[in-house]
Amino acid sequence: MPRLQDKYALITGGTSGIGLETARQFLAEGATVAITGRSQTALSAAGRELGDSVLLLQSDAGDIAGQRTLAQRIAQQWPRLDVLYVNAGDVTHRPLQEWDESAYDRLMDINLKGPFFLVQSLLPLLANPSSVILCGSVSAHIGLPQSSAYAASKAGLLSLARTLSGELLARGIRVNGLSPGPTETAALGKLGLPPEEQDALRDQIRKRVPLGRLGRPWELAKAAVFLASDEASFVVGAELQVDGGVGRL
Ligand SMILES: NC(=O)c1ccc[n+]([C@@H]2O[C@H](COP(=O)([O-])OP(=O)(O)OC[C@H]3O[C@@H](n4cnc5c(N)ncnc54)[C@H](OP(=O)(O)O)[C@@H]3O)[C@@H](O)[C@H]2O)c1
Repeated sequence: MPRLQDKYALITGGTSGIGLETARQFLAEGATVAITGRSQTALSAAGRELGDSVLLLQSDAGDIAGQRTLAQRIAQQWPRLDVLYVNAGDVTHRPLQEWDESAYDRLMDINLKGPFFLVQSLLPLLANPSSVILCGSVSAHIGLPQSSAYAASKAGLLSLARTLSGELLARGIRVNGLSPGPTETAALGKLGLPPEEQDALRDQIRKRVPLGRLGRPWELAKAAVFLASDEASFVVGAELQVDGGVGRL
């Protein structure tokens, strides 16, 4: 039997990379899926690929009031929510001296504050049992240059996974973190760095991976399927690092 049969699953940032691949695998495992993204064009393209059954919701993860609207839209369409995968993220990397307050606030809104209020807004809809997966990053554990604000936001999100796992357990909601290591997606082109610095950072990242290569989106999606499924019924407050060994070796 498919592992996500009869489950309603929302994936934020589902139009590309890990989120899109996870949507594919969730569907293959029998879930009913909704994805978000900021771009209507990207959402429509993802919808053409994933099929008509997928709910396409234009929503910016950094729009705090918009998180409540997103929850309301889900509640209008679905009787409950069984899986929430908070995957959308701002991956901007830059030297400390180049950050200004508005860029910092924007990143924190997308990566931490928005997810906080999304989980809060979805609480009435989250089923018992249900699974919430917060996408961290191995960057929360290593001192990668230029990752300061990003790594701090992911460390905050992983902290939230632990505290909410305790707080929401009585409601049957399992909260866990899923931390990718360097993964081959469009995100590597969105770091906000000039091309020559981007290449240097990529080399630096690759050298840090004990497995000697970048991860592939399907490898992250498999982990998300596991955490979303009832196979992970005893997994609570964990951080699953899918990172080729970067954070541990
Ligand atoms: N790739 C890596 O090496 C790596 C490593 C560690 C952690 N991660 C984390 O993994 C997650 C997915 O990254 P990815 O590599 O798959 O990136 P990606 O290919 O760039 O995909 C990001 C997705 O999120 C959406 N998104 C971005 N900002 C958004 C916002 N403010 N509101 C709503 N949707 C938004 C994007 O669509 P739109 O831009 O159209 O909105 C897209 O669908 C992120 O949280 C990232 O931090 C990635």
